[in-house]
Amino acid sequence: MNDFDYLGEGEVYLDGACQSLRPRPVIDAINKYYTEHNSCGERVKYKWGVKTDEKVEETRKLVLKFLKLSARKYTVSFTLNTTYGINLILNQLEVHHFKKVMTSDIEHNSPFLATMAFSEKTGLPREVMTREEDGSINLANYDFDKAVVVVNCASNFDGRKLKNIKELVKAVHKASGIVIIDAAQAMAHSADIVRGVEADAICFSAHKMYAPSLGVIVWRDDLTSKLTQSFVGGGMVDDVEKDSYLLSAENKEHRYTRFEPGLQAWGEIVGLGAALKWLDKLSKKAWQNLENNTKELYDFLKGSEKVHMVNHEPNPTMTFYVEGLDSHLLGNALSRENIMARTGYFCVHYYLDHVLGLPPLIRFSLGLHNRPEDIAKIKKVMEKIIY
Ligand SMILES: Cc1ncc(COP(=O)(O)O)c(C=O)c1O
Repeated sequence: MNDFDYLGEGEVYLDGACQSLRPRPVIDAINKYYTEHNSCGERVKYKWGVKTDEKVEETRKLVLKFLKLSARKYTVSFTLNTTYGINLILNQLEVHHFKKVMTSDIEHNSPFLATMAFSEKTGLPREVMTREEDGSINLANYDFDKAVVVVNCASNFDGRKLKNIKELVKAVHKASGIVIIDAAQAMAHSADIVRGVEADAICFSAHKMYAPSLGVIVWRDDLTSKLTQSFVGGGMVDDVEKDSYLLSAENKEHRYTRFEPGLQAWGEIVGLGAALKWLDKLSKKAWQNLENNTKELYDFLKGSEKVHMVNHEPNPTMTFYVEGLDSHLLGNALSRENIMARTGYFCVHYYLDHVLGLPPLIRFSLGLHNRPEDIAKIKKVMEKIIY
């Protein structure tokens, strides 16, 4: 069965780096939640609530399994998106544990701005590290003493990866700092880069990994020794007196509540569980199809003399501009042919505009839904527009 059978003929969706298309089993799981057990989780004793609880707990377990992290050390909390996850952590860190905040030049505005706001709020200096062409960080260039390091492990404009992520985490921990990984772009197609990495927190967006709109924070239990809880409300307490409360998170079983003030997006959490199972069961053929499509499109773009690629190597996410052609106009022309691609700076203004000095760009981000005929169509249409 084709899990993306709702895609119309000739419709080419190239914006998976923003939001993946959702496969049928994920849509079905959400529909099932709404039509069969629409209930609040983790508080409700009636039948529907019990079913929701089972599914939510299963999703938490599946996230840890997917990332190869142990429940003895890590907890999974749900939130709105990657941006919220990073901000929730930074806003609750106790400043006296740290000396500075560090990020890197190729970041999405999500960590880039959040680290600026953290620095402004706390008065701690902020340092922007340079990422190498292959995505790594030259550790010898930096002092991580008591640093809060917030970096991506895969970029959203060319997919380059933080190749020495394990060494970075080790170096930062040795210097008594913490590492928050932005894994928004890794989870769908390159989760291996972050699997088993013992960062202090890993934040990602389920909507970029074939799941519904939802954020996830996977955090090491000892991170809480550096936090003061300041986002509080329903679903987080075991008892409340006139001027005090007892946090449920003190109990290991309910530790996840620490980052979950208020009601959660239960249907979306159930949908994420379905997406993780779908990704786990995906055939070799499906991955091979993505790889072939990526290579064919990359080679085509690379081979066009008018195309200037930002990528240094093939990746399902590829960014470029065409000489003498405004990227927004190109995007509009492609849209008229039913090819949906993004234009601009993709929330990486600092690096793409101010470091590289590039004009607005166009991004093709492929996904598991793309068919070989999509690539044939892109090539044909691009040739018609460019030449
Ligand atoms: C690398 C990276 N980090 C963070 C984000 C922010 O994700 P969200 O808007 O879901 O919070 C994105 C979104 O594209 C991203 O690609």
